[in-house]
Amino acid sequence: MEELLELIKKRRTIRQFRPEEIPVNILLELADLGRLAPSAANLQPLEFVIIQDPEVRRQVFPWLRWAAYINPAGNPKPGQEPVAYIVILVNTGIRQKGYEYDVGAAAENIILGALTQGIGSCWLISVDRDRLKNILEIPDDYKIDSVIALGYPAESPVVENFQGSPKYWKDEKETLHVPKRKLNDVVHLNRFGQRIER
Ligand SMILES: Cc1cc2nc3c(=O)[nH]c(=O)nc-3n(C[C@H](O)[C@H](O)[C@H](O)COP(=O)(O)O)c2cc1C
Repeated sequence: MEELLELIKKRRTIRQFRPEEIPVNILLELADLGRLAPSAANLQPLEFVIIQDPEVRRQVFPWLRWAAYINPAGNPKPGQEPVAYIVILVNTGIRQKGYEYDVGAAAENIILGALTQGIGSCWLISVDRDRLKNILEIPDDYKIDSVIALGYPAESPVVENFQGSPKYWKDEKETLHVPKRKLNDVVHLNRFGQRIER
């Protein structure tokens, strides 16, 4: 297994996938990483729907929105759609608000865990929750928070220096470029505004 730090640094959102199935035991293992994530007051309001059935995948796909800045260029191409999803549910009987931190921790666990298996992912918050609830037969006392799309990567996005705009872009070879703010622009040493010389 690769070092955790290297995985964190090399992780990029993937939106083009190879048509190769992910074994269900791996998907279950990923949901387990979500289960074990930190949880405020240890309330554990989250549950996970694993989707791997091709028919359910086909029904879910139209209700997901990809890469808004470059729409439609970021959409998975036909034949490069995700091969699995993990839908993050909130049991509103346990928590109605303030669960977003738990979701963040669980999602990142799942995303990094997937990467250890060579599996790419896209965390999607831009989803049609009503349609998905219907398709997945989610009870009324559960909320869909977000969806993690999964599959073996068919693209290799690269990080760029931030030049004033957060907008990612695709070049003529269809490589996705993702601007990130510089370390020195986001870190302060002891007092706000004090920078670290490197
Ligand atoms: C909470 C959250 C919601 C997101 N929702 C979407 C989404 O609905 N659709 C999408 O294509 N990407 C979505 N993304 C992926 C971001 O666009 C992506 O993380 C960002 O462009 C930075 O790229 P990187 O993940 O490769 O660092 C989401 C990311 C986060 C953290």
